[in-house]
Amino acid sequence: MGRERIVGGDQVGNDEDLVQFSLRPSSLSEYIGQHELRAKLEVLLEAARQRDEAVEHVLLYGPPGLGKTTLAHIIAREMGSKIISTSGPGLQRAADLMGILTNLNDGDVLFIDEIHRLSSVIEEFIYPAMEDYKVDFVVDKGAFAKVINVPLKRFTLIGATTRAGMLSAPLRDRFGLHYHLDFYPPEDLAIIVRRSAQLLEIQIENEAADVVAGRSRGTPRIANRLLRRVRDYAAVKGDGKVGVDIAVKALDTEGVDSMGLDALDRKLLETIIRYYKGGPVGIEALGATLNEEIDTLVDMVEPFLLKIGYIRRTKRGRTVSEEAARHLGLKIGTDGPQADLF
Ligand code: ADE
Repeated sequence: MGRERIVGGDQVGNDEDLVQFSLRPSSLSEYIGQHELRAKLEVLLEAARQRDEAVEHVLLYGPPGLGKTTLAHIIAREMGSKIISTSGPGLQRAADLMGILTNLNDGDVLFIDEIHRLSSVIEEFIYPAMEDYKVDFVVDKGAFAKVINVPLKRFTLIGATTRAGMLSAPLRDRFGLHYHLDFYPPEDLAIIVRRSAQLLEIQIENEAADVVAGRSRGTPRIANRLLRRVRDYAAVKGDGKVGVDIAVKALDTEGVDSMGLDALDRKLLETIIRYYKGGPVGIEALGATLNEEIDTLVDMVEPFLLKIGYIRRTKRGRTVSEEAARHLGLKIGTDGPQADLF
């Protein structure tokens, strides 16, 4: 994905991966939020354990940073099995996947992130693996080509995607379980912030944790990232303790406003208001005006703006709400192009 954003739900690097990894809950009982999903998972895992069977294939979908990978690890751990992680774009050759599949034992988890980006060759290859626990592998070429049928153990495929709509119907249908992860309410995020602060030994007041939670766009990964920025600010500008004042100043300095919007969010809203009179405007036109990839806008920017009602998707394109305009101090229909916007 293009640029790095402090409020982007995507991962931004190895160091960050390490910290995020250390903050991850490792069991369902430690997992905060997503209450309905957790309740369903508890029953599912207990039933599978009672029958001593592998869990059915699971599709997890929802915006980045909400815990799809974390849940996949928790499922494997709760089942006492091994997890192998890969991603749609990372799986290039059938032979690679073949190697992975044949090394899985009963109940093991194969986690495929960004599963909507699997190549069609790999996708075809994976159908019989999911359905009948076997793969048809072609060896040799031309007149000597043979199909070997390789049986597999009963593994669990967990697929994660930000866009369930981009999965082909045959692939989607082969998952017995479809779980949607939604943005976390601020009260759940505040608990996550306090938990992470404790693990990272950061002294943070409850009200300051609420500030961080309120600006985290419903996303734990962002909450944990903002918490670290706030910690840095407190260490440099204060005495290391995080109070409300420090939290607000730190996040204002980072360009994350009271709703959790950053410069790119504001630019998108402002563009629709100033250049397209509040919309509707097609995503392609927006991408071109903002000079941003459409995927970035659709996966990283829009979901939260849709969630809080700042933009709406209509058949003719995106429109901005009055509330969003008010947040920016603008008026739809009155505020036009401004020379210094870009
Ligand atoms: N850290 C990140 N996401 C979390 C969650 N859902 N529960 C607990 N800690 C987390």
